Amino acid sequence: MATESTAKAFTPDPEFLLQVRNLKEYFPITTGFMKTTMLKAVDDVSFDIRKGETLGLVGESGCGKTTIGRTILQLYKPTAGEIWFKGKKIDSKESLREFRRQAQMVFQDPYSSLNPRMTVADIVAEPIDVHKMYTNKKDREARIHELMNLVGLNTEHATRYAHEFSGGQRQRIGIARALASQPEFIVCDEPVSALDVSIQAQVINMLEDLQARLGLTYLFIAHDISVVKHISNRIAVMYLGHMMELASANELTKHPVHPYTVSLMSAVPIPDPKVSRRQQRIVLKGDVPSPLKVPEGCPFRPRCERATEACAKTCPAMREVAPGHFAACHNL
Ligand SMILES: Nc1ncnc2c1ncn2[C@@H]1O[C@H](COP(=O)(O)OP(=O)(O)O)[C@@H](O)[C@H]1O
Ligand SMILES: [Mg+2]
Repeated sequence: MATESTAKAFTPDPEFLLQVRNLKEYFPITTGFMKTTMLKAVDDVSFDIRKGETLGLVGESGCGKTTIGRTILQLYKPTAGEIWFKGKKIDSKESLREFRRQAQMVFQDPYSSLNPRMTVADIVAEPIDVHKMYTNKKDREARIHELMNLVGLNTEHATRYAHEFSGGQRQRIGIARALASQPEFIVCDEPVSALDVSIQAQVINMLEDLQARLGLTYLFIAHDISVVKHISNRIAVMYLGHMMELASANELTKHPVHPYTVSLMSAVPIPDPKVSRRQQRIVLKGDVPSPLKVPEGCPFRPRCERATEACAKTCPAMREVAPGHFAACHNL
């Protein structure tokens, strides 16, 4: 399906591991008798991820973060758009098979994402079974133990069932499974938001440590900017299926330019009481509109203090407002 924008020939840039172009994911929703409406969960999103980089992806619940992750990994067939991995377009059965081995996902909820009736060994080995990545039973077992060690799980527990473990341990099992096929790229979909606050840092530190040791590249999804601030090289902000701003983590958190990001950042608590006293919280008017009724023009327009007539007419495209700093706003 060639849209106007994807029809332009795209030349991949070897600097990037993953390049996403004009990605759309629409879900048909029954909204009445014989009536379906397209829910535009992800609408024309483009971005790149460098090898070894962590790109944080933030935005309120329902803005399309999980859908982006799943669509990149082709767990959902993209409605439109292109995914390029290591300079190759993922568009054939062969390229998809190889991409499925090299790109994995750590899911948000370690309770629902692991089959409670499977042993840890079988869960962790699932990708190596699918991709036939072992020579014999002994080799398979050695690999399972290696993966369990990598995520700090006791190998004596390999024959236990997932339901016997705590949330934090379950997420370690999920991470071991994601690592099993020796991927280069991992989508971490809010990997700690279902866990006790006391163990969130442990799991994040482990993910960072694994990244350094194994040279992994992450798309790290969070609804809270403070979770990804420290671990991301760059951060992208989403609103109602659209990307609003993308910049280095430092630049985005210190000098946000998009009115939506500015309001998000104003809600992040600042530990320094002197700075904190000066901080003004910006409370947005209204609620996030239903994704079935995304406003015409800029999706943020109805809640934006700076909205003008132009904002009602056309949806602003992302453009570089400072070196490496992109934002989608007509008023910058
Ligand atoms: N499989 C699906 N079928 C229909 N609608 C979906 C599906 N998955 C997600 N959605 C809708 O798409 C929007 C984005 O969802 P999601 O990507 O899960 O957001 P986030 O991860 O940012 O919370 C939401 O309105 C959600 O209800
Ligand atoms: Mg989600």
